[in-house]
Amino acid sequence: MKIRAVVRGVGHYLPERIVENSEFEATLETTDEWIRARTGIERRHFAAEGETTSQLAIKAAEAALRDAGLEASQMDAIVVATSTPDFTFPSVATMVQAGLGSTHGFAYDVQAVCAGFVYALTNANGLIISGQAERVLVIGAETFSRIMDWSDRGTCVLFGDGAGAIVLEAANGAGSNADRGVLSTDLHSDGRYRELLYVDGGVSTNGQAGHLRMQGNAVFKHAVQKLAETAHTALAKIGMSGEDVDWIVPHQANLRIITATAERMQVPMERVVVTVQDHGNTSAASIPLALSVGRDRGQIKTGDLIVTEAIGGGLAWGSVVLRW
Ligand code: UT7
Repeated sequence: MKIRAVVRGVGHYLPERIVENSEFEATLETTDEWIRARTGIERRHFAAEGETTSQLAIKAAEAALRDAGLEASQMDAIVVATSTPDFTFPSVATMVQAGLGSTHGFAYDVQAVCAGFVYALTNANGLIISGQAERVLVIGAETFSRIMDWSDRGTCVLFGDGAGAIVLEAANGAGSNADRGVLSTDLHSDGRYRELLYVDGGVSTNGQAGHLRMQGNAVFKHAVQKLAETAHTALAKIGMSGEDVDWIVPHQANLRIITATAERMQVPMERVVVTVQDHGNTSAASIPLALSVGRDRGQIKTGDLIVTEAIGGGLAWGSVVLRW
């Protein structure tokens, strides 16, 4: 017997405003064709003025709780992955807790940029298998539109806003790969690569929120190599390989990265959940958004073996294998 962290519910929320690629043609030297061809992105959602990360997170959390048939007060912990919090503090997670009307348990944020959801999921799994929590709400929520430099065509066309959430619950498994729930995790970081992807502002440097800066091509090369590697490692830890995978649910940054990673894992694209065309890169929100959309589309079904993988600023990257 082994305690497993099983997905009980999933949900997402996207802000109302949809921005098509062509809208950028008016202010930047770019084209819809370039953005589609180089990234696979066709459109993204942007939060309305005054609409904050915690508000998106609360809506996604409500959807996931509804799906699970559970109340917020039944969550022992709330973990929010975000790099675009409403405030320096308190955490978005405590704001979500209050917004959901719960005073039970504890709530905190995890910051690992685009790898944030993989880190938060690994962390929540740890809370459950160590017996510290029975039910954990894990959320990825971002408003990256707030840290864009709108004159930098190399970054501002790539990102979008949104939130996704899952409810994890402890369940007894047999201890085999046939169990539902999180089966394997693999996390990495290497702070020597800070300059490749960072925000040029912050509390203890210049007191400003700052703007995202990225050496896209260098990050691309790290992504293609490191994502396949971490997914392989997570699967190998439990004696599995790409052949066993029903769905790769990757971080949605660039369709070319998603395709190259699937190829390296020898998983055909028919078994990859792709949402980047509609959401752009929503950083820590991209995987839970893709899980929720993939489930709604009828792609992800109970019992499917799923691999999630993500990389972002830090660099920080990792992978989680779970049976839905
Ligand atoms: O989620 C966190 C992790 N982040 C990522 O995974 C992002 C990884 N990187 C990427 O997705 C890609 O590197 C980008 C989409 C950012 C860029 O694509 P690329 O194929 O690597 O292009 P590049 O950076 O090598 O640039 C090629 C050309 C450049 O022009 P020159 O120097 O060759 O004349 C850029 O200035 O494309 C130009 N360019 C653009 N052209 C039209 C860059 N952005 C644009 C644009 N529209 N929006």
